[in-house]
Amino acid sequence: MDTDHVIIFDTTLRDGEQSPGATLNTDEKLEIARQLARLGVDVIEAGFPASSPGDLDAVQRVAREIQGPTICGLARCIKGDIDAAWEGVRDAQKRRIHTFIATSDIHMEHQLRMTRQQVLERAREMVSYARSLCEDIEFSPMDASRSDPEFLYEVLGSAIAAGATTLNIPDTVGYSTPAEFAALIRDIRRHTPGIEKAIISVHCHNDLGMATANSLAAVMEGARQIECTINGLGERAGNAALEEIVMALHTRRAFYGVNTHIVTQELYPSSRMVTGFTGLSVQANKAIVGANAFSHESGIHQDGILKYRQTYEIMDAKMVGLGESNLVLGKHSGRHAFAGKLEQLGYHLEPADLNRAFARFKELADKKKTIVDRDLEAIVADEVFQPEEVYHLLQVQVSAGDRAIPTATVQLEGPGGQTYTDAAHGTGPVDAVYKAINRIVQVQNELIEFSINAVTEGIDAVGEVTIRIQAEADGEGNLPVNPQTGQRTYLFSGHGASTDIIVASGRAYMSALNKLISVRGHTAPAREAENE
Ligand code: KIV
Ligand code: ZN
Repeated sequence: MDTDHVIIFDTTLRDGEQSPGATLNTDEKLEIARQLARLGVDVIEAGFPASSPGDLDAVQRVAREIQGPTICGLARCIKGDIDAAWEGVRDAQKRRIHTFIATSDIHMEHQLRMTRQQVLERAREMVSYARSLCEDIEFSPMDASRSDPEFLYEVLGSAIAAGATTLNIPDTVGYSTPAEFAALIRDIRRHTPGIEKAIISVHCHNDLGMATANSLAAVMEGARQIECTINGLGERAGNAALEEIVMALHTRRAFYGVNTHIVTQELYPSSRMVTGFTGLSVQANKAIVGANAFSHESGIHQDGILKYRQTYEIMDAKMVGLGESNLVLGKHSGRHAFAGKLEQLGYHLEPADLNRAFARFKELADKKKTIVDRDLEAIVADEVFQPEEVYHLLQVQVSAGDRAIPTATVQLEGPGGQTYTDAAHGTGPVDAVYKAINRIVQVQNELIEFSINAVTEGIDAVGEVTIRIQAEADGEGNLPVNPQTGQRTYLFSGHGASTDIIVASGRAYMSALNKLISVRGHTAPAREAENE
């Protein structure tokens, strides 16, 4: 099926959410799904409904509320999974079930403990069952790139005969190379019975840094769906990055000869939103959406750019939604100009979110003369792209120095508007703040990553802090051991921004802690609130 349209299948909410620390709640998933629809993706894989009741609920809400893209739910080749996936997507205008089973000897023997014949039979049966529920069925032979090709053609052929409409070829462990993966797609097209009736899709992981290259090599051989994620999130080293795939196809249109339905100007806002909600920031030199992707440092490059932009730029920053505008905001800018600027940057905020962001903007404008795009992005990320707050940081006060014992006092607002104040000392001011917060919230966790970045240059720059905390299943059911995966360790990321880096650190901690508390379920602190 060779058309010039490549279907963009976004799996940020499923494979992307499998990134360690990227847990999203239902409201955040819905917000991201809304943005994906604005971005123009063709398919949203909204989750894996059989994996938890929370995932089923999220998929159902996306299916009911998001118009435009096809909504897809993942399922193993197990009847219960397929039923759950169908429950998840059935209310969508356009819906799809995506079912998978491993076909490599290593997976079949050591993980599934099934023979080739059993896998072949199960795939056929389950695709056929899924097709009895839903018209649009995607089938994936997991670990395809390490599977015996002859067996792969047989399984794929039987999936088509059983009703699969899309065949997805995963490079599950990111092992393949572009030439090898292209050859695999070519051979699948040559040897799979009935292949002309199905769309060939690819799903590449980035373990060797080749996910984008492998996906594009497959397009050259006739693949017409690419599975990818915003910022390249995903299991381990992640999946192919949507923004890289789309901009490669767009910038090198004459070479690839295909197009997508993506509204490229929404790429950068989508990236920022996903960074905000997952707390996983992208490296500065990340293609398309990294902070340095469009900046030029060397004198020769700057000279060239000033003379003729195309000397060193193959894409216009405006194309990805990063355009510099001539509207500079400052202390006297009003709500209207602020809202207009956010719209221009691709942020479409609800009125309540806009009010909070505007209040933060006014606070910042009192401290900083001119507010640039990066400051606004930090404000939006800090105010809007945050988990629901069980505890809110009201105040932080620290005393520190080379001759002082770092000490912090914090005040939090907890459930029901109760306020709590406590103090602690630590090895440094951030440690003291975290310990004071812990004394109030009393939820066991360990800080495993802390990073700080200035979003602009200058002494008055806003500092953005990103952290990750880890919590263990506690055996008392507060943080359960996942019955399906046996998972005992949970990672939560958080981010915060402020011109005061201690405050930014406190906010980042509250953001991660609030995620942990929502998963764990909340019990009020065993201590008195001040306003009781
Ligand atoms: O990487 C993989 O093989 C997957 C499948 C479920 C498609 O994520
Ligand atoms: Zn995957």
